[in-house]
Amino acid sequence: MLEGRRGWPLQLAMEMLVAVGRAYDAEAMIPVTSAHLVIDGTALGDPGVELFERLVADGARFAVPVSINAIAVDRLAVARGEPLSEPQRGQLRLLEACEKMGALASCSCNPFIQGILPRFGESVAWSESATAPFVNSVIGGRTNREGATALASALTGVTPKYGMHLDAGRKGGVLFKIDAPMAGLHDFNLLGTLIGRRAAGRIPVLGGLSRPTRDEFVGFSAAFAIVCAEAMYHIVGVTPEAPSLEAAFGGPAPAPIVIGVSDLDAERARTSTSTGDRVDVVSIGCPHASLEQMQEVAALVAGRSVRDGVKFFLHTNRSTHDAARMAGVLEPLARAGVQVTTDNCAVVSYDRLPVGTTLATNSTKMALFAKAVSSAAIRYGSVEDCVSVALADRGADVPGH
Ligand code: F3S
Repeated sequence: MLEGRRGWPLQLAMEMLVAVGRAYDAEAMIPVTSAHLVIDGTALGDPGVELFERLVADGARFAVPVSINAIAVDRLAVARGEPLSEPQRGQLRLLEACEKMGALASCSCNPFIQGILPRFGESVAWSESATAPFVNSVIGGRTNREGATALASALTGVTPKYGMHLDAGRKGGVLFKIDAPMAGLHDFNLLGTLIGRRAAGRIPVLGGLSRPTRDEFVGFSAAFAIVCAEAMYHIVGVTPEAPSLEAAFGGPAPAPIVIGVSDLDAERARTSTSTGDRVDVVSIGCPHASLEQMQEVAALVAGRSVRDGVKFFLHTNRSTHDAARMAGVLEPLARAGVQVTTDNCAVVSYDRLPVGTTLATNSTKMALFAKAVSSAAIRYGSVEDCVSVALADRGADVPGH
């Protein structure tokens, strides 16, 4: 591959992997069993479209199963006949090129709710910051936080053996004792951001937590990764490589840093930058909402209506959307005025939140993105809090329900 005897796509991909491997003193190339690609058109633009289409035209094909992260287009809106802008067409061309090379158009930053799950001990090449901590920590699969290298591994089927692929690279570096009750997903999101910041480049080991739900694990992973470069955490007695403190650290544990209620409150205050009554947009589903989260929102909005002037988005992917339709969840959401978006979100979209938006969300990752991309003011809370601010106008109750 490196010598170009199997074509320029594999040569280019292998050159990239060899360069990364050399930079990290990797001892070998090892096979991967899958790859997860970020092909966000707002980031890749026209050069990305050109590269992917040239790869297809020159015969490149993926060597392993490949899934795709959220894209910047809602494909159900396209199916409904909504007009497409030129950049949106480019995004769909990127996706089509990936499909031609063999990818599954899963289009989600939460492939775990779609059943796309590496197995314990498997080496994979997954991009999207939030997915890597879940793969490493919750499943015990092995991936570095890949970027363009995920494409190179998808084409070649290998990755350099360094970092998360080494036993020594997966040991804890700092211990936190959680001494605060967790009230659900929004608290795990807060905790993820707090731990990510305090871990400061070390793999954190958490004690004192009982087993999170799948959605709480996903939320914690995404929130952790948005502020921390590490690709892994351990929860003692819960995650598979941390049956004990000693196992998590590969030796004696350091003294713990205690995280109490006041620390979580401070993180909440740091995230919530808006104190007034205003809300323009509600965003639930970062990472993409599971069927259970959609059911929760549907139950909370049943018989009510989103008030005028508020946009309420529930972000998910097409397969979860289909499951929600079959479960009868979409109808109450639509009746209340909740817009279910598929495959994209309020950030990964060409229709970004207007600058100065006041956003209500239960996701610290969405909050940080919205602050950075749209200078948004944030109202942070649980799903119930977000629903209640969207429906707060009593005059908006739907009569007869
Ligand atoms: Fe997914 Fe968008 Fe959040 S891509 S992780 S819902 S910012």
